[in-house]
Amino acid sequence: MAQTQRKILVTSALPYANGPIHLGHMLEHIQTDIWVRFQKLRGHLCSAVCADDAHGTAIMIKADQQGITSEELIDGVRKAHMADFNDFLIGYDNYHSTHSEENREISNHIYKLLRDNDKIAVRSIVQAYDPEKEMFLADRFIKGTCPKCKAEDQYGDNCEVCAATYTPMEMIDPRSVYSGATPVEKESEHYFFKLPDFQDFLAKWTRSGTLQDQVANKLAEWLESGLKEWDISRDAPYFGFEIPDAPGKYFYVWLDAPIGYMASFKNLCDRTEGLNFDDYWAKDSDAELYHFIGKDIINFHALFWPAMLECAGYRTPTGVNAHGYVTVDGTKMSKSRGTFIMARTYLNHLDPQYLRYYFAAKLNSSVDDIDLNLQDFVQRVNSDVVGKVVNIASRTASFINKKFDGQLASEVTEAEMIQSFIDAGDLIAEHFEAREYGKAVREIMRLADVANTYIADKAPWVLAKNEETLPQVQEVCTVALNLFSILATYLKPILPNMVADAETFLGKTLTWENRSELLFGGKVNTFKALMGRIDQKQIDAMIEEGKEAAAEAAKANEPAAVVAEETELTKEPLEAEINFDDFAKVDLRIALIAQAEHVEKANKLLKLTLDLGGETRTVFSGIKSAYKPEDLVGKLTVMVANLAPRKMKFGLSEGMVLAAGPGKDEIYLLEPHAGAKPGQRVM
Ligand code: 2FM
Ligand code: ZN
Repeated sequence: MAQTQRKILVTSALPYANGPIHLGHMLEHIQTDIWVRFQKLRGHLCSAVCADDAHGTAIMIKADQQGITSEELIDGVRKAHMADFNDFLIGYDNYHSTHSEENREISNHIYKLLRDNDKIAVRSIVQAYDPEKEMFLADRFIKGTCPKCKAEDQYGDNCEVCAATYTPMEMIDPRSVYSGATPVEKESEHYFFKLPDFQDFLAKWTRSGTLQDQVANKLAEWLESGLKEWDISRDAPYFGFEIPDAPGKYFYVWLDAPIGYMASFKNLCDRTEGLNFDDYWAKDSDAELYHFIGKDIINFHALFWPAMLECAGYRTPTGVNAHGYVTVDGTKMSKSRGTFIMARTYLNHLDPQYLRYYFAAKLNSSVDDIDLNLQDFVQRVNSDVVGKVVNIASRTASFINKKFDGQLASEVTEAEMIQSFIDAGDLIAEHFEAREYGKAVREIMRLADVANTYIADKAPWVLAKNEETLPQVQEVCTVALNLFSILATYLKPILPNMVADAETFLGKTLTWENRSELLFGGKVNTFKALMGRIDQKQIDAMIEEGKEAAAEAAKANEPAAVVAEETELTKEPLEAEINFDDFAKVDLRIALIAQAEHVEKANKLLKLTLDLGGETRTVFSGIKSAYKPEDLVGKLTVMVANLAPRKMKFGLSEGMVLAAGPGKDEIYLLEPHAGAKPGQRVM
């Protein structure tokens, strides 16, 4: 049955043009690429665009330190990024740059619409200023001694040792990481996007099915505590676009970064027959738009971005698909352990398809982190891809090549088994569509087991010894190659090179639709080995190279100013890895719920008065949908007692209570076993 052709535009987050691509980036680009290849294989009109995120202070400083212009820096980095993606078989239809004419035009256009809709506020703020370099400094670019615990070498916004938050000028001996100069305070005008005006729009939009539940729940908390106006301007010197009506002021990098998605697509449309920008971005567009991103940049994509698009009269995304971080062997990627693996380092030792397969096998639609366990990686790739899938072809192709001159049997046998392989494609497609790649892979491997059992039972190598049973060899191998061909179709989004070689051998370009066209009666070409096993030595060599590169970088004493682009405090990850010492800082206490009451005008909050064995605390908790206040009074629960007090719209919240569950009306407060007393420490 012919399906209707969908028009789909897909993006991955735009990598900063100030450093190399590593395996953390690669998870996202692989996730995106598999989805895009799947859509194309199904016959949809799917375009995938990306670009380098080329603006901001970090890039400007890095170029300065290297004695080159920002343009020279971003050109070189973009070439390296494109080579990395290409060699990882990531097939973007366009890889552009945010420092492009298209992006300048669209950014100006959108800004003017925001301004004309009265959504830009201008006011003066006081900021730290580097008198030597004559530039304003974001908090990330200032270091000094923590005013609270006296820990040295802390960033200008918070202390990594005692978790205190402060302004840079409150630090003891603050200094610019750029010049070493002591910053002074200086006033300047900034431009703000009036995000609070979109509170109601965003409350609806974030619950409209565009986001994963976990993400929507987290955003609901932020929305509940009220949105702030967003500072979208930076003063010169800044590498970016000057704001059209404000000389000396530049768009903050995060303003024009997502517009870079549009710019990259515009650039593609301008040189592609039949691809029309407005068909995809106009308010009434019937095309689908998906952004694949990491969980650390959700607020930019699910709050600021839809609000800007809405305000400027464009369509908003169909889906924002967030994923987790990559860990290696269970912990954060580490330079000294050699596990902060650059894409190029990996490519120097291993076939990119191994990692594509491994990530696919572990990916699902949640924001959970993905662990690259190196031992499991070797074992899984070798046993699944090589031992199961490739093996089906390599055990049977040589008989067809050698004994039958490539000629396949013409009579269809095992029709039922073959049909079951074809039918399984519907479920596998559902899994791919839902980004449940792990489930798709499991189903494909289950079928591969069925195929291998069939071959083992028939043992063509035994039948081949006897002239009389030779026709059966042709039959069995023909069935096996048909099964292989169907499985290769399902794996094509994940293993594009392996399947391209398989297509050459089978003499057929595989599509989802034509998987039911069987190969009986046809001829195959000479079989060449499709994919080899991973050798542990390759992994060891890769890790060794990673360690050496880290040591080199340390020796070169990379200047401290090369830090990540400033992201303000709005860049808040959903979850981050902590060590035991971090955990030990959390003061968990048994709390008695002395009072519980509704909060006027709050949809989700209850106000709890908690007794900690003498001391009382007020906590606002988003549990209204699951509990009636009167049912809570007198119950014991667990609270975080040393959380910095948070000012909310309805008052000061002095801690939080612990609860489990997916949210909405399924929330379960933790309750200790009988005997626990209010105020006792939880360990
Ligand atoms: O966090 C980052 O790496 C950003 N460069 C992502 C930008 S995504 C988009 F909005 F441009
Ligand atoms: Zn401190």
